[in-house]
Amino acid sequence: MSATLAVFHAPRAIPKNQRSNVVPRRRIGSPHQAEDPRRRAKRGDPAKKRLGRPSDKSDDNGETSGRRQFLSGGLQLLILSSADDLLAAATAAYMSAPRPETVVYIGVTMDGYIARPDGSLDFLPQPEGEDDFGFGAFLNTVDAVLMGRRTFDQVAEFVVRDKVPWPYEGKRVIVVSRTMTQKDVPEPLSSKVTVTAQSPSEALKALGKTGFTRRVYVDGGMTIRSLLEEDQVDEMVLTSVPVTIGRGTSLWGFDTKDKRDYRWSVTSSEPIGRGMVKTTYKRVRKK
Ligand SMILES: NC(=O)c1ccc[n+]([C@@H]2O[C@H](COP(=O)([O-])OP(=O)(O)OC[C@H]3O[C@@H](n4cnc5c(N)ncnc54)[C@H](OP(=O)(O)O)[C@@H]3O)[C@@H](O)[C@H]2O)c1
Repeated sequence: MSATLAVFHAPRAIPKNQRSNVVPRRRIGSPHQAEDPRRRAKRGDPAKKRLGRPSDKSDDNGETSGRRQFLSGGLQLLILSSADDLLAAATAAYMSAPRPETVVYIGVTMDGYIARPDGSLDFLPQPEGEDDFGFGAFLNTVDAVLMGRRTFDQVAEFVVRDKVPWPYEGKRVIVVSRTMTQKDVPEPLSSKVTVTAQSPSEALKALGKTGFTRRVYVDGGMTIRSLLEEDQVDEMVLTSVPVTIGRGTSLWGFDTKDKRDYRWSVTSSEPIGRGMVKTTYKRVRKK
């Protein structure tokens, strides 16, 4: 993994023998019409490069200009020579922010259901005493939770009606919904969740752009399926519950966007008591 540090640096005269390493300054969004079209064609699509220009001869991937020094541990130091470059670096970093890692953590019956038709979860064994089946430890590995509106309704009912403690304390919680707005969130939870009309994948992208979210816990059948369909789930921790319920909300039944099998590797599998087996799958993607 590599990271880039950007450092602002006042312009100075650069000796001729070092100039090949430095890109000449150009204004962001400057018009290129007056330019020789052959030169423009050689340089590639200017619109693509407006927010991020090649930094040196060896880098033509639309990255920000500046001099680059490679440090130990995969770090790169990008030395910028103007305020324009600094703005371009920030914009390019924002636009190219990676999607956060996604992980599903869910209990599934032997016949693939996550809830009864009325949404109830009474078939899931309840934690006793300190033993939460590893949920607390799992929660410590994520920065944010992205859930569907129906899952939120269920959790809100537990918290508001049954006075169960809010399970995601300290985590950023995003609820996807096209029917609910922020003002519909029950009062005790209004500062704890953000409702968005974005799709789950748009919401993930937005979380990535905050720069603070590396790993997101995705919850709710429809929400999980919609991300699975787009191959945006990286890890699934499935706890198989030894019961069949015959009907309800199924976890499965999605159609892969690119019509092919998605392969997963099993990284752990362990009995966690009361007949349940927790298995962690990691998505295997070709590099
Ligand atoms: N067994 C377990 O461990 C477990 C874990 C979590 C949840 N559950 C249960 O599962 C049930 C909820 O699952 P669910 O499959 O019904 O739904 P869900 O994913 O929790 O919520 C579905 C809702 O989220 C919004 N949504 C989801 N995907 C969307 C998309 N692609 N675009 C726009 N909006 C989207 C929509 O809200 P709007 O309709 O408002 O637009 C949709 O109706 C609950 O009963 C919950 O208790 C069980």
